[in-house]
Amino acid sequence: MSDPVALHDEIRALAAQRDAVVLAHNYQRPEVQDVADFTGDSLGLSRQAAATEASVIVFAGVHFMAETAKILSPDKTVLMPEPRAGCPMADMMSAEDLAAWRDANPGVPVVTYVNSTAAVKALTDVCVTSANAVAVVRHLVEETGTARILFGPDRNLAWWVARSVPEVDIVAWEGWCPTHDDVTAQQVLDARELHPGAEVMAHPECRPEVVDIADAVLSTSQMLDHTARSSAEEFIVVTEEGLLHALAKAAPGKRFVNLTPRMICPNMKLTTLQKVRDCLRDSSGEIEVAKDTRRAAYAAVERMVSIG
Ligand code: 13P
Ligand code: SF4
Repeated sequence: MSDPVALHDEIRALAAQRDAVVLAHNYQRPEVQDVADFTGDSLGLSRQAAATEASVIVFAGVHFMAETAKILSPDKTVLMPEPRAGCPMADMMSAEDLAAWRDANPGVPVVTYVNSTAAVKALTDVCVTSANAVAVVRHLVEETGTARILFGPDRNLAWWVARSVPEVDIVAWEGWCPTHDDVTAQQVLDARELHPGAEVMAHPECRPEVVDIADAVLSTSQMLDHTARSSAEEFIVVTEEGLLHALAKAAPGKRFVNLTPRMICPNMKLTTLQKVRDCLRDSSGEIEVAKDTRRAAYAAVERMVSIG
């Protein structure tokens, strides 16, 4: 059966039968967002995963997000409709890399972006998302008085945090998101010329030259909140194009400009309605995290969901 309406209804019926909650990231295909119980950014979905009373979590997103759900809710069954959907940035820092980096900088706290593997999280002091990286680092600096922090894997988010919390020296890992790092300041300037008066919202995974000229630097869910509050009527959206569906639903009277049709995360698009149905029907794509890794990662992830 491939009729989208019938598939949607079948997924909702299966979710009820299996006592499952369906979580979808804001970059998922529109029809996958629409079938979910909750959509959101990494922080919001982690909080949903930690708080849910459902027995099964179906995670429509990328691998590190489902792993994070399993770390927070080890007694739940976590299923991914497409377990091969990874995040290239997360793969840019291995646990061995981080262990060596940490050993070379004894006593320096390790702050890790949630876009990382469970094994990397297990070697981390505190995790952050794009929504709370600045708040978490500020909190860490106030709590420990540290003058230095190791931050990975995203060099661009590290730059944004360093700029926002100048009292600490942030040593950044050389990782990046291929989808966001590709954007140039010139593209933003061209879009501004075509849409004078529009507000530019950029994700902090973009390069410093882009973040520098944005009107607001926000996580995906913060962009949704921001457009509802702002008096602007038009917005240039500098993040993955899946968010445009959520923005149009949240603020139907406003205009949203996709900076470039190239801002697509291919991994996010691997999940389809059919795969969501199959995983619920067959209980396939189960995500496991080894007990030792999960236990070691828990504290860093729990701090992330509780701060900011
Ligand atoms: P958000 O947490 O802002 O939704 O971002 C996740 C992500 O992977 C951005 O590329
Ligand atoms: Fe990873 Fe970038 Fe895709 Fe986000 S958009 S999941 S950071 S590759």
